[in-house]
Amino acid sequence: MVDPSKFHSYFESLHTWREWGDKFHTPRREAVPLVNLNGRHFEKVDPSCWPLDRWNFVKSGREDTPEEWNKFYENCLADKEELLTDVDFTMSTKHLEAEWADSIEDLKPYLTRSCILRWQAGARFRPHVDTWHPVRWLRLWGTTTPEKILLRYKQPDTSKGFCIWNDITKQDEVYQCSETPIEAGRLYLHDSMVWHDALAVEDDAFQFFISIHPRAYDLLLSSIH
Ligand SMILES: [Fe+2]
Repeated sequence: MVDPSKFHSYFESLHTWREWGDKFHTPRREAVPLVNLNGRHFEKVDPSCWPLDRWNFVKSGREDTPEEWNKFYENCLADKEELLTDVDFTMSTKHLEAEWADSIEDLKPYLTRSCILRWQAGARFRPHVDTWHPVRWLRLWGTTTPEKILLRYKQPDTSKGFCIWNDITKQDEVYQCSETPIEAGRLYLHDSMVWHDALAVEDDAFQFFISIHPRAYDLLLSSIH
């Protein structure tokens, strides 16, 4: 559990927010790295602050077309691509040493690629998955502004929820937020093998975007409350 007021007093005064990746510039999606490749908090180009699927796609040298993108994504899920993955990022930045993070001290040795995200209204992640079998990292998600952000999962029951186009599966699918009420500052173990999307409904929606090594699983189980 992170104290939202300590979190906001730290991150709202930061001036080193950087744009998330190289596409979709408005509405703004910004990030600061907590754990990246070299521990530097402000790199000109920092893959920890990119969608990693997009980073790997650009680095693969493929032509930037929807068809090539879909082939690439299918290959990733079938483990046929050489990828930079969350567990390759192990160096923490100074942002993780600030007071807001004292309450997650126990998790720090296990953290892999992690960021804080700040989005403006309308910013989104389209339907995607972040982990697949065999699982090499786990994802934690949370927000200090739960009223401003929707994190929605694909539903087997299509009778209620938001109908959303999945550009990877090429289908309309039904997505809905978890029934768990989201508490500001709480970190949740997030099943990112399930298709999900995210949408900011107001400006300055903050999210924890955290990956953690599966070695932390027992610790995570013992910290659930
Ligand atoms: Fe995700």
